[in-house]
Amino acid sequence: MVEDGPRYNDIDMEIDARVEGLLARMTLAEKVGQLVQITPDMTPDLDARLKDGRIGSILSFHDLPRINRYQQIAVEESRLGIPLIVGNDVVHGYRTIFPIPLAESCTWDPPLLERAARVAAEEASAAGTHWIFAPMVDICRDPRWGRIAEGAGEDPFLGMALARARVRGFQAGDLASGRRIAACPKHYVAYGAAEAGRDYNTVDISERTLREVYLPPFEAAFEAGAGSVMSSFNEIAGVPATANPFILRTVLREEWRWPGVTLSDYEAMRELIPHGLAADLKDAARLSMRAGLDMDMVSDAYAGYLDALVAEGAVPVSLVDEAVRRVLRLKMRLGLFEQPYTDETLAAGIVGRDDFRDLALRVARESMVLLKNEEELLPLSPGDRSIALIGPLADNRQDLLGTWAALGRPEDVESVREGMRSHLGDHGRLTYTRGCPIAGDGPADIGAAVAAARAADVVVLVLGESEAMSGEAHSRSHLGLPGRQQELVDAVAATGTPLVGVLMSGRPLVIPRLAAQVGALLAAWHGGVRAGRAVADILFGAANPSGKLTASFPRTEGQIPIYYAHKNTGRPPEGGGTRQFEEAYKSTYLDEPNTPLFPFGYGRSYTTFGYRDLKVETPTVGRDGALVVSAVVRNTGARRGDEVAQLYVRDLVGSITRPVKELKGFQRLTLQPGEEQVVRFEVPARQLGFVGLDMRYVVEPGAFKVWVGPNSAEGLEGEFEIA
Ligand code: NOJ
Repeated sequence: MVEDGPRYNDIDMEIDARVEGLLARMTLAEKVGQLVQITPDMTPDLDARLKDGRIGSILSFHDLPRINRYQQIAVEESRLGIPLIVGNDVVHGYRTIFPIPLAESCTWDPPLLERAARVAAEEASAAGTHWIFAPMVDICRDPRWGRIAEGAGEDPFLGMALARARVRGFQAGDLASGRRIAACPKHYVAYGAAEAGRDYNTVDISERTLREVYLPPFEAAFEAGAGSVMSSFNEIAGVPATANPFILRTVLREEWRWPGVTLSDYEAMRELIPHGLAADLKDAARLSMRAGLDMDMVSDAYAGYLDALVAEGAVPVSLVDEAVRRVLRLKMRLGLFEQPYTDETLAAGIVGRDDFRDLALRVARESMVLLKNEEELLPLSPGDRSIALIGPLADNRQDLLGTWAALGRPEDVESVREGMRSHLGDHGRLTYTRGCPIAGDGPADIGAAVAAARAADVVVLVLGESEAMSGEAHSRSHLGLPGRQQELVDAVAATGTPLVGVLMSGRPLVIPRLAAQVGALLAAWHGGVRAGRAVADILFGAANPSGKLTASFPRTEGQIPIYYAHKNTGRPPEGGGTRQFEEAYKSTYLDEPNTPLFPFGYGRSYTTFGYRDLKVETPTVGRDGALVVSAVVRNTGARRGDEVAQLYVRDLVGSITRPVKELKGFQRLTLQPGEEQVVRFEVPARQLGFVGLDMRYVVEPGAFKVWVGPNSAEGLEGEFEIA
């Protein structure tokens, strides 16, 4: 495991004294300059503004010689020589692209993701980036939202664990560049709760849900040392996040006492105008600064109006000073004053290193989730059967990179076809037919695909979404296979040749028909540069799948939002939502069960695992104590495999109603055939509470249920109480 990163939250007297000394020498214009972030290519008079100290940061910029040149103007030609901080989106790798974060989260492996984040930091830092706009820690329970791809799924407990790991990885103290990176968790906050899953849309949730579900991953990221945060585009109950004093001041500063930098999202200050909160850009600057937003990403609201607002008395200069202090402190803690430039020869020896690519392969393998495997159709043994590889993602490189692929290049990617060929060598019989395009009703060769399927012993169908179908501003309302892909599957299925489905996507898709048609189904997501190799390793059994879903797969779009930790309601169906046709006047649909097609936490292996002997070692838990639960997990199959054992609880009666299940622990085990291991969980009682009537966190006495099992829908059940 990578050692802990720097703790930006530590009080550092020496830095504080330097900050005060510098602040005392700054003019108002220079102070405002520190709060301005721009993109170089869209900024007129850039050199002059840098020289005048009117720019504090640049973003979305990777041209290192030019970064160094701008830095030189800032450091050597401006009056006070304050260095720029360079921020970039490095969401799942810089050049060595890892699986999309949603896929990474399916590893349930924080130490592994810490290493992956560290690789991204190594590359980005060597190439001149100081500030990484990640991790994206937005909880999302709506797969229509394209940005579900960027997060860790639907659950705050898992989200917190992965947020901590990623921050530690990004901020690792001993990068090869000799530099440090600052993480910037985003998007603060509740962006993933956009109505109807449409990007940038309204959010209107209760303060309790905000505190229980959406805020905790940010708090975890800050605890792990994140020294900045990016505000979100959405409004929350009528106040856009970028100018929301409750979230920016009350929660961050007064409750959490967090001293980091708040950065707006791209043009988010300007967007306060169409939101209907600000009359004009000046008003937007006033509202944002008063709310506690420190740095303006490209709106030019602060650059244009902050000094006038101070002069008019509409914004106290003390607020500006506070913001500038935070920015200067971040720059000092990163060592930018001592080492403003990046050595232009560094990147060549660091970016794209082989061991980074090896790690990307490991993460890709662990991220893939085996959803179905009837009659042990998988793994295929290389060479003994002829395989028809079919589908628009089978020989595709670009789309495997996924959304926000930073400097990822298609030529770095191994396609599934290449991955399979490398297993088969010259021996196996493998044909390839694209079948149809990913989207649209363009020219297809479905007839050729059918002929190939007829001639083969088994078909591997590689289907799903393009990289551009998820991510920012790429929400979808129909979540089935796009274009003519289902038509392709129907035609191939009619041949009767056994089908293996490999699904590549940026979100859970709605695929009940496909799931019924194939004998085996692997959710492979957009798996990054080694995705094709990882898929082949799994298909041929060189790797045993161990990923578990972190976002539920709905049966229909109409079930959305769908998540395991839902409330019970006053009229729960007794069959858990699967017998709704017989249950009148219950909280059900007429036409579908309530349950998802594949639940949170679910994923199969080529081996099988049995759970037994649940022991609740603490039937009564003191409020300062811990729940201790153990169970025996046994590998009951014939292969070595990894299992993620999960612990869920339910608080049966509370002053606030509680979810039917809440994840409170997980452990990854590696077991040989026949081997068993005791998994033991210790959950501090303080983690078994909730946000009470008065909005304060409370642990209430009373009865609980507890489960230990392989996913959110199955497990051994026990009980305990909090005294
Ligand atoms: C907008 C996105 O919402 C955010 O995630 C990203 O960091 C910024 N643009 C900068 O590219």
